[in-house]
Formats: sequence, C-alpha cells, structure tokens
Amino acid sequence: MSANRPAAVVVLAAGEGTRMKSATPKVLHTLCGRSLVGHVVSASRELDPEHLVVIVGHAREQVSAHLAEIDPGVRTAVQHEQNGTGHAVRMGLEELSDSGIALDGTVVVVCGDTPLLTGDTLKRLSDTHAADGNAVTVLTAEVPDSTGYGRIVRDAATGAVTAIVEHKDATDEQRAIREINSGVFAFDAQLLTDALGKVRTDNSQGEEYLTDVLGILREAGHRVGAAVAGDHREILGINNRVQLAEARKLLNERLLHAAMMSGVTVVDPATTWVDVTVTFEPDALVHPGTQLLGATHLAAGSEVGPNTRLKDTSVGAGAHVDNTVADSARIGEGASVGPYAYLRPGTNLGPKSKAGAYVEMKNAEIGEGTKVPHLSYVGDATIGEYTNIGAASVFVNYDGVNKHHTTIGSHCRTGSDNMFVAPVTIGDGVYTAAGSVITKDVPPGALAVARGQQRNIEGWVARKRPGSAAADAASAAHRKTGGEQ
Ligand code: UD1
Ligand code: CA
Repeated sequence: MSANRPAAVVVLAAGEGTRMKSATPKVLHTLCGRSLVGHVVSASRELDPEHLVVIVGHAREQVSAHLAEIDPGVRTAVQHEQNGTGHAVRMGLEELSDSGIALDGTVVVVCGDTPLLTGDTLKRLSDTHAADGNAVTVLTAEVPDSTGYGRIVRDAATGAVTAIVEHKDATDEQRAIREINSGVFAFDAQLLTDALGKVRTDNSQGEEYLTDVLGILREAGHRVGAAVAGDHREILGINNRVQLAEARKLLNERLLHAAMMSGVTVVDPATTWVDVTVTFEPDALVHPGTQLLGATHLAAGSEVGPNTRLKDTSVGAGAHVDNTVADSARIGEGASVGPYAYLRPGTNLGPKSKAGAYVEMKNAEIGEGTKVPHLSYVGDATIGEYTNIGAASVFVNYDGVNKHHTTIGSHCRTGSDNMFVAPVTIGDGVYTAAGSVITKDVPPGALAVARGQQRNIEGWVARKRPGSAAADAASAAHRKTGGEQ
C-alpha cells in the first residue's frame, strides 16, 4: 500500500466524444488490447485508492457494463447532462456521500481519455501533493502546441500557480503559454467539496469548470501547487481517431522498449504490435510484421514471425512460429509451426512437434515429436508421440450435425491423403496406406488399407483416343521398349 493512498480516484468519462464519429462511445475505443478508460482505470489502480469512481453519462449502460467486466471494484456515478468537468466531479463526490462514504484525505481526478498516463506519474503527483501540503496539485506539461488546452498561469515573481485559464477564455498573452493543464489533479477531499459548491458557469462554454477550483482555493489562502510531467506525450488526450492512432503508436513503442530492455530482440519495432498483456522471456526474437495479442507469451529463445498474429497463445522455449495465425493455442518447447499454419483454439502442440506448411488445427492434442508437416486439417483429435501424419490428411470431424473425436497412437506412420472419419481410434505403431479413407478402428501394429484396388486397362488410349498426342507418345514409348505397337 502506498504511503499516500488516496481516499478516491475519480475518472471523468461522461463525454460523448463526438469527434470520434463513432457508434462506439469514445472511452471504449481500444489500443494495445485495452479500452481508453481501461488504461486509465489500470493506472489509477496503481495508487491503490480506497474508492475508484468513474463518471458515466453518454452511453452509460454500455460503459458501465464494460467497467463491471474489466474491474468489478469500480463504482460508477451518473452525470445525466455534461455540464462540465467540475459538475462531473461533483456527481462523483455526491455518489460517494449518498452511499454513506465520507472522504478524508486526497481525491485524485483523471480524464478517461488519456490512456498513456502511467501509474508512476500519478504516484509522483500524489507524493508531491502530500509532501508540499497542498490543497490542490495539478499535473502540468510543457507541450509544443498548447492549442485547445487550459493554460497554467504562474505568478511572475514567485512562479506559483495562480490560475488555469481555458483556451476559449484566454487572452492572447495567456495563449502564448506552453505549460498546460493535463486534466489530472490531486485535491484535499474536503476543500474540493467546498470549492465545487462555489464554481460558477460564467465562462464561454457555460460549464462548471473543475479548473476554477484552483483559483477559488488560492483566493481562500490555500496552497496550490503543480507537478510537471516528465514526458508531455503521457498526457495526450484522445479526441479523434488520428490521436488514437498516435497514442497507439506511442504505447506500442513503450511496450516494445520495455521488452527490448528486458532482452527480447524486436527486429522491426515499426511493424511489430503488442498488447499490454503480452509477456516475454529474454532471448525471444520477433520478426517484422508480427502482432502479439492478449495473453500471448513468448518463452526464452523462441522465434516468432515474420507476418504472424498470435492471440492468447503461448510459445515454448526455442519454438519457431513462421507466417502463422494462432488463437488460444499452446506451442511446446522446440516445436515448429508454419510457414502458413492456422492454429485455432484448443491446439496443444507438444515439445518438438510440428505443424507445417498449410496446416490447420483445432482442439488438437499433439504429442511430443509428432509431425503434421504438410497441407492437413487436424480437428478434434488426440495424437500420441513421434507419429508422422502424411501430407494432405483430413481429420473428418463433422457429420453435418455433431463433431467427433479421432485418436491416433504413438509411433504411427499414416500415409498421404488419408481421411480419418471420426469417431475413430488408431492404435500405437500403426501404418496406413496412402489415399485411405479410415472409417474403422485400427488395432496396434496393423497396416490399414482403405481404398479401391488399382486396375490398368491396357491399350485404352490407342483404342479410344487414336491420333491424339497421348496415343502418339504411348506408341513411341512402346516402340522404344519393344512392347505393344
Ligand atoms: C479539459 C480541461 C483543460 C485541460 C484538458 C486536458 C476543464 C474545464 N478543462 O479540457 O484545462 O487542458 O482537459 O485534456 O476542465 N467530462 C465529463 N463531463 C463533463 C465534461 C467532461 O465527464 O461534463 C469528461 C470528458 O468525457 C473527458 C474529460 O472530462 O474525459 C475532459 O473533458 P473535455 O471536454 O475533453 O475537456 P477539454 O475541453 O479537453
Ligand atoms: Ca471540452
């Protein structure tokens, strides 16, 4: 638990986000495997607040349902009309007091559309707030272009923050200020509650500005402070899809940077995309054009890509995965996958096994050292150890209504172009003939042959296709060997 554990974190997420031009509420848009508001909630959790309240308004059922799913400990407070950031925080505090919760200590306020904000920065803000004994501490940043942001006005002599002036309400002189309000604050809970009652709406937007609390507290003789963010990109707020793409790129770079610093080789960070939930071991290697999503894990010495998408998939130590799409698969140590493999949920490849070129698998247990090297579909199957499945085999698992299981033993050698019509069981050490349609169980050690006998009708071409190129070629061949005309 942090020494400066806040009483509450309030996340503002009631706005519509019109500039996204989307049927999806702004805070539910995603980057690197998490929603905008999900990133903010997760950074807020690092402060270990007693209460975490998200203000919802626009599409509140949808946003609340999402919050309940990602973090059931989150409370929501409804702001029916978006009357400004001050009004939104007031709704949050009222929700807590209506629930009989008296806040004592620090309240941290963050916006739901700043997904790059880190827990470390929030901790720094909260530590500065406590150390300086402030009534309010605002997180600020120097930005190259401050257009649209609230400007931080400081006293020329002392450098103390005196006010935040919104862009729309600022003078030309104030608009030249490059230090801006990030929208993140730490407040003394009681002083915040009192000051919010005094916020007026006589501004260009006719809204209750949270930023006015600063001036109100200062005029009442309280300490107002600021913490400057180390990296201004952290406070990037997402208002449109261009900013969403920008933020996604920055977050992806941050995640890959951490991976590389921990010993992962990323050949081309520009074309490698990872979710926040992906984990790596040192000496994993990622080739260009690779997307690693969800709970994907790359173990030591594994090699993934190029052009590969893995979702919720674990790759064992030393395994190779090339030009592959996999979802919810487990790839064992030293296994080899692809190029051009498709592993669907429930695929579990044992150590040193192989799913080769143009192989699709689903709900398949593949034993150690077993190989499915070429052009095959393996669905609903269990295969033992050190078995080789011939090229172009299909596990015929679907009868049009139900799915059935195929079991194949260890050390088998099945011929090319086999159909295993499930349910069917093949014992250990079995061989099957190429082109077989296996519909019956095969006992251990047997050779199964399940195909029509070949018959050759001699002279058919000469009789039925006289004068054709085929007939000429055949008669030339016969002349050479002294056979039939
Ligand atoms: C706000 C700040 C500005 C700061 C900027 C940083 C105020 C008055 N202005 O401006 O100083 O530089 O953020 O990005 O605080 N929201 C609600 N209810 C409302 C209004 C807003 O929940 O009634 C939420 C929005 O959903 C959003 C956040 O508050 O997540 C910020 O609102 P937004 O309208 O984007 O504020 P800005 O104009 O960007
Ligand atoms: Ca606004």
